[in-house]
Amino acid sequence: MNLDNAISNLQAKGYLDIEIPKGTGLIEEINRMRKEKNAIILAHYYQTGDIQDIADFLGDSLQLAREAEKTDADLIVFCGVHFMAETAKILNPAKKVVLPDLLAGCSLADSCSGEGLRELRKQHPNAIVVSYINCDSSVKAESDIIVTSSNARHIIDSLPEDQEIIFAPDRNLGRYINQVTGRNMILWDGACIVHEAFSLEKIAQQMLDNPEARLIAHPEAQKPVLQVAHYVGSTANMLNYVADSEYQEFIVATEEGILHEMRKRAPHKKLIPALTIDDTCNCSECHFMKLNTMQKLYLCMKYELPEITMDEEIRLKALRPINRMLELSKAIK
Ligand code: 13P
Ligand code: SF4
Repeated sequence: MNLDNAISNLQAKGYLDIEIPKGTGLIEEINRMRKEKNAIILAHYYQTGDIQDIADFLGDSLQLAREAEKTDADLIVFCGVHFMAETAKILNPAKKVVLPDLLAGCSLADSCSGEGLRELRKQHPNAIVVSYINCDSSVKAESDIIVTSSNARHIIDSLPEDQEIIFAPDRNLGRYINQVTGRNMILWDGACIVHEAFSLEKIAQQMLDNPEARLIAHPEAQKPVLQVAHYVGSTANMLNYVADSEYQEFIVATEEGILHEMRKRAPHKKLIPALTIDDTCNCSECHFMKLNTMQKLYLCMKYELPEITMDEEIRLKALRPINRMLELSKAIK
């Protein structure tokens, strides 16, 4: 049973005296609280369309981290997954950061722990640790630099060529960066369940059926998909590519939430979601991201819960590699 159903059941039994407005009333209430509480709603492109539409700021991981850094809001309502809300808290210790559903996790972040990374570092004492932002605060605290899919290549390229590097936690992004930069980074063996679900065979058929279409893929996808892709890019770069390139048809191999913004930016272009291995699931939807709903957004703004909290020592350790990323990626739009 999801949280919305659980709340409805408890309400029906009279255990909870919470009334959640419906339709436009819900939107009005969220807008009222946003003003009253000096709140900012930050949303990732993988959120549902209604949440994307109500957000003050919509972005990919890098854009959201930058926005979280510069906001003067008192309350940061983070519509994304836990590691993203944690990043906002690391950057804003004095502000309250809330996430509509605390269970909105990430398979990639779950694959790696600070302790595990510390052990790996012991085996490679000369290596620096570069971690993808999709990791929890304990992993960030063990890292030297954080990267996102938008700036990973740029940041890795800025490091000395002979520098030994441990890259965590995404093996697919790490392998892709190794390939395009000619590095030989030591890779943590983690992956995103959504981006690993794409089927090369079915995508090949989609390409045959749509010969004019460009296959565009996120670097979290597996190597065989990236090898046949016409364009590989972060969430923000894929959006720009679809909107700005002369091509009219695209097979999109990333989380489906991106299509909402793509349709807005390129209303006349044909967008085809890439097919996944299992036909019986919505495998190209990140179920963690979709745990956030408008109702939960309303509740978390009303009660300012669930709140993101963390140990101050970990926060300070995690802040250094994030600041390094923000510094090193100033040239990236
Ligand atoms: P970006 O927002 O950096 O493209 O990352 C995609 C992703 O999987 C976020 O969880
Ligand atoms: Fe994590 Fe993948 Fe979901 Fe992004 S899409 S939050 S990497 S599980």
